[in-house]
Amino acid sequence: MKLKILVTAGDGIGPEVTNEAVAVLKEVASLSGHTLEFDAKRIGGIAITTDGTPLPADTVAAALDSDAVFLGAVGGNEFNSLPPDKRPEAGLLGLRAALGGFANLRPAFALKELAVNSPLRPEVIDGADILFVRELLGGAYFGKPREWNKETGVAFNTMIYSRSEVERVARIAFQLAQKRRKKLCSVDKANVLEVSQLWRATVIEVAAEFPDVTLEHQYVDAMAMHLMNRPRDFDVVVTENLFGDILSDESGIITGSLGMLPSATIGGKVNLYEPIHGSAPDIAGKGLANPFGAILTGALILRHSGGLEAEAAAIETAVRKVLEQGFRTTDLVRGKDHGYTVLSTTAMGAKVRETVKAVMSGQ
Ligand code: IPM
Ligand code: MN
Repeated sequence: MKLKILVTAGDGIGPEVTNEAVAVLKEVASLSGHTLEFDAKRIGGIAITTDGTPLPADTVAAALDSDAVFLGAVGGNEFNSLPPDKRPEAGLLGLRAALGGFANLRPAFALKELAVNSPLRPEVIDGADILFVRELLGGAYFGKPREWNKETGVAFNTMIYSRSEVERVARIAFQLAQKRRKKLCSVDKANVLEVSQLWRATVIEVAAEFPDVTLEHQYVDAMAMHLMNRPRDFDVVVTENLFGDILSDESGIITGSLGMLPSATIGGKVNLYEPIHGSAPDIAGKGLANPFGAILTGALILRHSGGLEAEAAAIETAVRKVLEQGFRTTDLVRGKDHGYTVLSTTAMGAKVRETVKAVMSGQ
């Protein structure tokens, strides 16, 4: 098996964490005899500084010519005063649109080893395992018209969905639910927004194709609470772009750290993979960044673009073992007398590689 992966490491901690993840993927490739080819292109703030645009044309061309795109993170404080279409984030949104993936899969799971990292009580999170399916190409992120009129002092965005956009993401969510615990929760704000009424009506129509999946609906405000109160009750959760952005960050609380969570975007020409965490400019370049989110994102590349389930699972097992053995990056350490071994970003990457090697050779 051969996979051509384009790495767009981006800004802040993006390059540090993707370096470690790529090194883990290379290790797995050499152990399993598969060929992974890597190329790198600029995106985000680094591209603004170097190329004068957050999304250079050759990045898009290389992305479309690859089997998978692996993104680190975009954004930096020096760009905060720019209008939305000039910011690093515009590069990421443009790349998402160019690749066409509309279903962003964001797992949120409790890890026994990190239970103390969550402010939620262990008995609330124990066994929680949610898969968010965030619609990624519609809603207020891409809706037009949009404007901030400085003269009138009025600004607006358009939260817009067509039936077909809802149908296609709902279908993917139902299919994923069929492979899991056969429960789907659709999140909207149908008590106030027409766009949510369309969302709900369409999800109900699609449900007829999946009689084996139990469907429930929640309003987004109530869902924000249920996720913290009874996260175990949810299996697959499907929602629109902005609600999914917010709820997936919130659900980092279930794992104990946003730094652990990967994501995969499917349904388009080329799948896009990115950890959920941001560019964390405050800790960039200090060796403090947590590479697990990126490393687990690497596992998703193998699973969803390479069909390499065993190899993906080996990476996931290695991450759990490293945590079990008490190794932590700084962000995962709580309190003074913690007894953990604190590792830098690169040392943690090396530890995962060593462990994945042991896992794959059956030790
Ligand atoms: C995410 C991020 C992005 C988003 C930003 C960086 C544009 O927050 O992937 O969740 O809002 O989608
Ligand atoms: Mn986000």
